[in-house]
Amino acid sequence: MSVKAIYPGTFDPITLGHVHVIERASLLFDHLVVAVAESPNKKPLFDLQARVELAENAVQHLDNVSIMGFSGLLAKFARQQQAKVLLRGLRAVADFEYELQLANMNRALEPELDSLFLTPVEHFSYISSTLVREVARLGGDITPFVTPNVAAALKQAYPNAES
Ligand code: COA
Repeated sequence: MSVKAIYPGTFDPITLGHVHVIERASLLFDHLVVAVAESPNKKPLFDLQARVELAENAVQHLDNVSIMGFSGLLAKFARQQQAKVLLRGLRAVADFEYELQLANMNRALEPELDSLFLTPVEHFSYISSTLVREVARLGGDITPFVTPNVAAALKQAYPNAES
């Protein structure tokens, strides 16, 4: 039986921490859908299409991974995709309570969908998209945390950042 997993997030933008989780998951599941949420409440810097394109570029070396944008309920999207596993990254204890809440709500909405968690390697455990955007906006070097394409997109988004 082939197992499809779904890895949702806002990915504003995708970071090497996300890519690491995706690479590990691509070895564990037959197919992985990286689901880029519209997340209008987060007022993303990059629009949905740009976030999808940046993610596509970051995982082009992985044959069994596809990127899809979605809006609305994640549980509904996962059902449409016939995904069996909902994958999330756990970077620190601080992530745990929120993730437990999400997992329980998603189980209530879609009982057949199981949440699984992967931990990123330590040197990526402190990265978040918000921090990456802030460092880029203030002219810091974000190249250790993102792909060259994402670094270029951030440079374009913040043309006046001092370096
Ligand atoms: N490496 C680096 N950063 C990571 C990471 C990793 N491995 N894993 C998570 N993060 C960071 C993200 O960059 C993000 O940072 P930010 O808050 O600075 O943007 C943060 O951790 C939160 O993770 P993210 O993956 O972006 O999740 P989210 O909290 O924005 O989104 C959704 C969670 C999209 C899954 C959730 O909002 C959702 O399901 N939305 C659809 C609507 C819905 O169904 N709502 C009901 C949910 S029960």
